[in-house]
Amino acid sequence: MKNSINESPIGIFDSGLGGLTVYREIRKILPNEDIVYFGDTMRVPYGNKSPDNIRTFAKEISIFLKGLGVKTIVVACNTVSSIALDVVRKFGVDTVFGVIEPGVKFALKRTRTGKIIVIGTRATVNSHAYKTKIMEENSKIKVVEKACPLFVPIVEENFIRHKSAGLIVEEYLGEFKNTDYDSIILGCTHYPLLKNVIKKALPKINIIDSSKACAYFVKDFLYKKNMLSDKRKEGSTEFYVSDMPQNFKELAYRLAGVKICKINIKRF
Ligand code: DGL
Repeated sequence: MKNSINESPIGIFDSGLGGLTVYREIRKILPNEDIVYFGDTMRVPYGNKSPDNIRTFAKEISIFLKGLGVKTIVVACNTVSSIALDVVRKFGVDTVFGVIEPGVKFALKRTRTGKIIVIGTRATVNSHAYKTKIMEENSKIKVVEKACPLFVPIVEENFIRHKSAGLIVEEYLGEFKNTDYDSIILGCTHYPLLKNVIKKALPKINIIDSSKACAYFVKDFLYKKNMLSDKRKEGSTEFYVSDMPQNFKELAYRLAGVKICKINIKRF
């Protein structure tokens, strides 16, 4: 039996625009769902902030999304997924998805050598959330974690096609070139936008894009719980940011190919 929850929107949030990589994948495979996206453009980046602050931001955003009547919250930010999923469950809704678990499950299916690289922001790497989850699933896997703090500004400044991007990626990841690590988890929502540059630096390594994995995880879960929308028409998306809406709109299109007509401001 379907009920009103099916027609409620899916809430997605990130510290800024990186979460659009998750939004994009969800929109592709769930075209009939209504979606509300919030990007905390006033407080981005989260990746260099303290866990206490990140948990406070997560609480405020969860209360906001709950107030908009979302049926589920997708935490499209690795930093928040690593540090504050419990906060989102407590102050938001019961059905909450992070990006860690789907990314880990996908990586475990792909690796043949049992050696996985995880890259992310400092906060994500310091939390060891990926390593912990991988160990929970399979304690024999060897994991190396590396923070790549310059990757986010490369994306935000739209330097992804600039030669400096290649040099920086090489500097951070070159050490893995001739090793038997065979999979790399992009543990930050911005990193899929650098996929081509990473592929060039590590041509033999499987790239695990957690945004794609997360979208399939969400679809599968909502389907099994009978929570998907029944609508036949295309779903709508409402965008909210906490600052600089015009800038967000332009970058969303330029970097993620997401066209935004109307954008709202929400400040805390
Ligand atoms: N969205 C963040 C993440 O996935 C990256 C940007 C930030 O540091 O806020 O970890």
